[in-house]
Amino acid sequence: MPAKAQPIPPATWPSRQAAAQSLLFGAGSIGALRTRTRSWVPAMVPWRSNENGEVTPDVLDWYGRFARGKPGVLVVEATGIRDIPSGPLLRIGHDRYLPGLEQLCARVQAESEGETRLFIQLIDFLTIRRRPESERYFKQFLHLRPEHRERMEALGFENAAASGEEALRQAMCDLPQEKWEQLLAPREFEDLTRGYRERVDDLHLEHIAKLPEVLPPLFAQAAERAQKSGFDGVELHYAHAYTMASFLSRTNQRSDGYGGSPEARVRLPLEVFAAVRDQVGSDYPVGCRYLGDEVIAGGSRIEDACQYGLAFARAGMDFLSVSKGGKFDDARRPKVGSAAYPYTGESGHECMPTVRIGGAGPFGRNLHLAADIRRTLHDDGQTTPVVAAGGINSFELAEQALASGACDFVAAARQSLADPDWFRKIELGLGDEVRRCLFTNYCEGLDQKHLQVTCQLWDRDFPKVAERAQTAVPPGESDLAPKLSSDGRRRLVAPDWSPEG
Ligand SMILES: Cc1cc2nc3c(=O)[nH]c(=O)nc-3n(C[C@H](O)[C@H](O)[C@H](O)COP(=O)(O)O)c2cc1C
Ligand code: SF4
Repeated sequence: MPAKAQPIPPATWPSRQAAAQSLLFGAGSIGALRTRTRSWVPAMVPWRSNENGEVTPDVLDWYGRFARGKPGVLVVEATGIRDIPSGPLLRIGHDRYLPGLEQLCARVQAESEGETRLFIQLIDFLTIRRRPESERYFKQFLHLRPEHRERMEALGFENAAASGEEALRQAMCDLPQEKWEQLLAPREFEDLTRGYRERVDDLHLEHIAKLPEVLPPLFAQAAERAQKSGFDGVELHYAHAYTMASFLSRTNQRSDGYGGSPEARVRLPLEVFAAVRDQVGSDYPVGCRYLGDEVIAGGSRIEDACQYGLAFARAGMDFLSVSKGGKFDDARRPKVGSAAYPYTGESGHECMPTVRIGGAGPFGRNLHLAADIRRTLHDDGQTTPVVAAGGINSFELAEQALASGACDFVAAARQSLADPDWFRKIELGLGDEVRRCLFTNYCEGLDQKHLQVTCQLWDRDFPKVAERAQTAVPPGESDLAPKLSSDGRRRLVAPDWSPEG
């Protein structure tokens, strides 16, 4: 049973003068790059691109709106480095994406009046398929092996050794479901009940075996495109359920020098970074987002993360952004026809903690991971900035995180989604106007279904939004008719705000 919902703690907001003297609104630096403040909006996939992975007008509006809130750093969502169909995920795997990405940089520059630094998160991911119909699985997908015949005999299907393939497949399909686990190898059972999913240690698959050859140039070319487009830096996505995080995972058992020991697990992430660095030069900010704790059985823990962080810092990364969990390994079993979603199990709940998470609650929940990593770096004389995220929703929490030395930048994803102006409001001494996130994950529910992500509060403040959009709007007053999601019921961007009211 989920824990009782925790209330959102009341916040007190600083005056404009107090904000001006705070750490949060003091300057930061990432390598050679100066940031105006230490506030950070981390990557969030909003499903605003199209099937070609292009920068659409909706992508521009989405990031333009965040930029108007003038965070110190804004990170563009996980963006695919390969030139392959990836659904409506933003892509950077070919030069044809350059004009769109240039427009995106220009829009953020204009809307933030040059005050926000724009990074882009670069991602690679492996194949994951939807959970199949059991009939289809047994008749088409299962690779029949002699062991299946032996187990069918043991399960009471007489003469399985000699029976024809079609009859055998049908008999397997007709078995009571609770017998399937005895019949199938663990991985086959998983393919049937969760959908097929590639692993980084599937060395029998040629394209997986070749990842260490293929990925460094792919990341390097993507980073070069980001640089050419005008991004201020790149964030290598080494976190959550994706390829690079899987290399870092303790569960990675590759036997080719890229898995097993901690040194072997961090090898490809370092090689990718080295290739990127070579391509973009020493002055261009390059960092990564990675996990302080995978929160899965047999997974990497904070000790591993400290070791990796040290290796990244020594190699010359310009920042380390710390996240937690978000793995496929413990994801909820999907319905037939759906794919597993990595934010549904315990590790997923730790990644985007809600008010029902229990324990110490969601607010600043993961700060201790950033703090441990930062301490490890400092003990080694490394000053690489560390970015912390997870339930940060007030000035006090952010300021305390910086003052205590837990991190160098404070990232807020959902609070910034709920109110993209929240940092700016605080800075202007108008904290009372902050629209506070409820941490109940309506937005994440939309992400799970690959629907356009919005915040429930945007419409709550403007309940007549859909009605108003229906009415004819005089020319020049199009702001009265906010653009709506494809279901026609939700605002696509947060309501406007200006300090003048
Ligand atoms: C809708 C949504 C999409 C997200 N997409 C990404 C992503 O593309 N890359 C990433 O590293 N994290 C992603 N995250 C995780 C956030 O960056 C952040 O780590 C997490 O929400 C916890 O921070 P918060 O408590 O401030 O929201 C996403 C979160 C949400 C709510
Ligand atoms: S939908 Fe809910 S959890 Fe998501 S940003 Fe809005 S208030 Fe926060």
